[in-house]
Amino acid sequence: MPNNVETYAFEGDDWFSIVKKVGLEIPTGCLTGSCGACEIDVNGETVRACISNIKSKNKDALRVSFTTDPFWGN
Ligand code: FES
Repeated sequence: MPNNVETYAFEGDDWFSIVKKVGLEIPTGCLTGSCGACEIDVNGETVRACISNIKSKNKDALRVSFTTDPFWGN
């Protein structure tokens, strides 16, 4: 995650809970998947956190960065 923060998560966990666990926050807007305020990059793929859960095909590490918020530091 941003700032080299690492944590563990399980398949199906929600993004908001996981980032909160490490003291980060994903901005939100609509919470219905339409505004894009909650977009994060997961292994280079853009994901809207409010409408997706954690998925890992091979249980590998996921690299997460925020797409537009400078506080996440990319
Ligand atoms: S909060 Fe609007 S798309 Fe997620």
